[in-house]
Amino acid sequence: MGSPTSVPASAGVIRHGGPEAGGPARRRGAPSMPAVADAGVFVVDPTAPDPLAAPALAGLHDFYHRHGFVLLRGLYPVEFLDRVERECGAAQRAVLAGTVSERFGSTQYLDARYLDRAGQPDGAAAPPERASNGTTHGGADVDVDAYVNYVEHVEELSPAVRAVATHPIMVDLLRRLLGADVWMSPSPNDGVVYQDARPGRESGYSRIGWHSDWQAMPSLDVWPGCAFTLHVDATSPANGFLRVVPGSHRWATPAPYRNINNVAVPADARPSGGYTDAEPPHAMPLGFEKIPGEIAVYAERGDLLLHDAYLWHSAARATENATTRRHLRAGYYGGDPTSYRDQFIKNAAR
Ligand SMILES: [Fe+2]
Repeated sequence: MGSPTSVPASAGVIRHGGPEAGGPARRRGAPSMPAVADAGVFVVDPTAPDPLAAPALAGLHDFYHRHGFVLLRGLYPVEFLDRVERECGAAQRAVLAGTVSERFGSTQYLDARYLDRAGQPDGAAAPPERASNGTTHGGADVDVDAYVNYVEHVEELSPAVRAVATHPIMVDLLRRLLGADVWMSPSPNDGVVYQDARPGRESGYSRIGWHSDWQAMPSLDVWPGCAFTLHVDATSPANGFLRVVPGSHRWATPAPYRNINNVAVPADARPSGGYTDAEPPHAMPLGFEKIPGEIAVYAERGDLLLHDAYLWHSAARATENATTRRHLRAGYYGGDPTSYRDQFIKNAAR
């Protein structure tokens, strides 16, 4: 197994400068600087006759299997991204206004402390079944527009989201990465999630601690799996960003018997999940602690992140207050579809 601390510059790396990029030739004997910016980014041309066969994607499979993630850049035109943003914004407002079923705005992903606050008798807070934030908080007006952090099943409200979830190039790529029989959850309780992360105290979701997605459903045999995330906003330290431990998908990550929320893991959970039997070199932190070898994965608007369900990941809170970090996400599975049932072990810190 490769060290999680090394991301080779040979795969998925956009090189900046140097003669191969048309830049100045390096002086003989000068130390070479490994290019790690945009590690894992692969630029796709969806108008090409066979986009996945393009030379630019030649290293994609190796990078994904070695490191557990890739970013596909260029899949969506600007106009389509604008449409996704409009339709998701409309869905978000419909949830807030209560003009659609509350199932579109459930609170399962929210910070429990937020829910506690919202449940205070004097809280006068947003309806807990659908909202993260209203224009009132703790009984007093706050200087923010009303919003909700999540819309679940958003593909039912947005044709553009449906198109994202079934994009033929993405599905073709997932077949190559996970196996020919990849599938999405058939459950009416699952689907595509629209997430609008914001940093304020009034927000129900600002960050998430270390976890692998497998840990949320360790009793099922639907694995391997891969999550796709379409970034509506570019990410940065200002509005928050993804942290990953490259290569951690190959470790045998324990089911979350230790977790910060003290959620019980059912007896039928598999004891570990990952592509090998290798014990992780570090225990997974309960919160947001730094892990040796972790990297930041920054996305541009329109980037499609594919990350393995076994990959250790977390998301850092925004450093600027007036920011949003919006994306769409859902999962594909390559295992046994008949083993699917609803399970959600909420082990990650918020
Ligand atoms: Fe996750």
